[in-house]
Amino acid sequence: MAGATVSLDANEPQTEPVAGMAATAGGCPFTGAVARGPIEPIPVREGFDFTDPDLIADRIPLEELATLRQTAPIFWNPQTREESSFDDGGFWMVSRHEDVKAISSAREGWSSEENTAVVKFDGATVGPDERAIQREMILNMDAPRHTKVRGIIGRGSFTPRAIGRIADALDARARQIVAEAVARGTGDLVLDVSSELPLQAIADLVGFPQEDRKRIFDWSNQMVSYDDPEFDVEPAVAAAEILGYGMELGEARKADPGNDIASKLVTADIDGELLTSEEFAYFCLILAVAGNETTRNAISHGMQAFFENPDQWELFKAERPQTTADEIVRWASPIVIFQRTATTDHELHGTTIRAGQRVGMSYSSANFDETVFDEPHRFDITRDPNPHVGFGGGGAHYCIGANLARMEINLMFNAIADLAPDIAPLGEPRRLRSAWINGIKGLPVRYA
Ligand code: HEM
Repeated sequence: MAGATVSLDANEPQTEPVAGMAATAGGCPFTGAVARGPIEPIPVREGFDFTDPDLIADRIPLEELATLRQTAPIFWNPQTREESSFDDGGFWMVSRHEDVKAISSAREGWSSEENTAVVKFDGATVGPDERAIQREMILNMDAPRHTKVRGIIGRGSFTPRAIGRIADALDARARQIVAEAVARGTGDLVLDVSSELPLQAIADLVGFPQEDRKRIFDWSNQMVSYDDPEFDVEPAVAAAEILGYGMELGEARKADPGNDIASKLVTADIDGELLTSEEFAYFCLILAVAGNETTRNAISHGMQAFFENPDQWELFKAERPQTTADEIVRWASPIVIFQRTATTDHELHGTTIRAGQRVGMSYSSANFDETVFDEPHRFDITRDPNPHVGFGGGGAHYCIGANLARMEINLMFNAIADLAPDIAPLGEPRRLRSAWINGIKGLPVRYA
């Protein structure tokens, strides 16, 4: 059914291009303008591409997404093969919170494996073979393979106890990171602060040597920045390098196990379950991507949100609400969209999604759904409850690192509040050009 369209607003057909259209009343939380109060939905023309990297480089199209939620909760988003590496003409996009949750948590009828979770690859360099390799990552597996790998990873690495064990060390690291930044006076928050803790956390948790952080940082940038001309990258080369690194580490720990998570994963447990060195290498690959970029961007967006909402920064410094990290993740929605592929036909809001078609779940949209969140365009660090889908909409693939990410965000902002309470922006954030990551490449600041 590629190429099919849905009627957006029967009363107001829209044919004018809107890409690049300025944000309207209320401002956009991602462009530096103060965003308070409701935003005005703006019309969406047929053929609008929500995965256009030029659009996301400029802003998250929250106004258009508000329109979709109201008038076209299932919307045909066209893509060419050159743009996306998929040759099915595009995908159905769902924008309502309830639909994102329902598809994410469905036990059957949807696949992460068939076309992976990523809605757009670089069509020039990625074809079906390259996409097939992605299926070796847990994010892109279906049961029963997914159940097995998730069980093994889950048993050792991300339990509250495993995370609790590294909490003190990470707190000390967060403080050290901020203290060094403060000593420099001014700098780039992304490089100095946001990117460091996620790398150190993964190294601590899994047992990567800390001195390899810089290599992992570079690889993870290269893996996800293929749409941004500032990065002259070859994602496949970076992936191969991480895999080689992971294989070596896996073999080394197998031969000489230590007391770290890497050793636990590659040596058999009581039921004889273990990851092969190859599976372990793919685990390293997904961590480098899923655990790094996301948390880094959440911290950078969180800081920017505090700059735009100084009352919330004062509140944070005074009270340190436990609800802060989740509001930052909702607000940032570091992953803009992931997809599933239908394995059977589905009916949704009067539209038939055919088996084999892809459906994009817009986390950015669901996290600003006014039927779920009071005043969604207000950054409110005391928001409770906060049923955001920033870590996914639940179900088998729900982010395994969610608690670790929350802890990192908390530790980082506590350290900033204690050591750099008067931190201030020196310029606008520089946004990443990407189809599916809400990324900040740079944020100039004065630390003290
Ligand atoms: C703010 C930070 C983070 C955000 C916004 C985030 C977001 C997400 C999302 C949306 C998914 C769901 C995928 C789906 O349903 O298809 C996911 C899965 C995953 N995340 Fe995170 N994540 C974050 C931090 C982390 C961290 C710190 C780690 C590990 C160190 C991590 C590891 C993973 C893994 C391994 C998966 C795949 C799980 C599976 O397929 O079973 N994430 N994440």
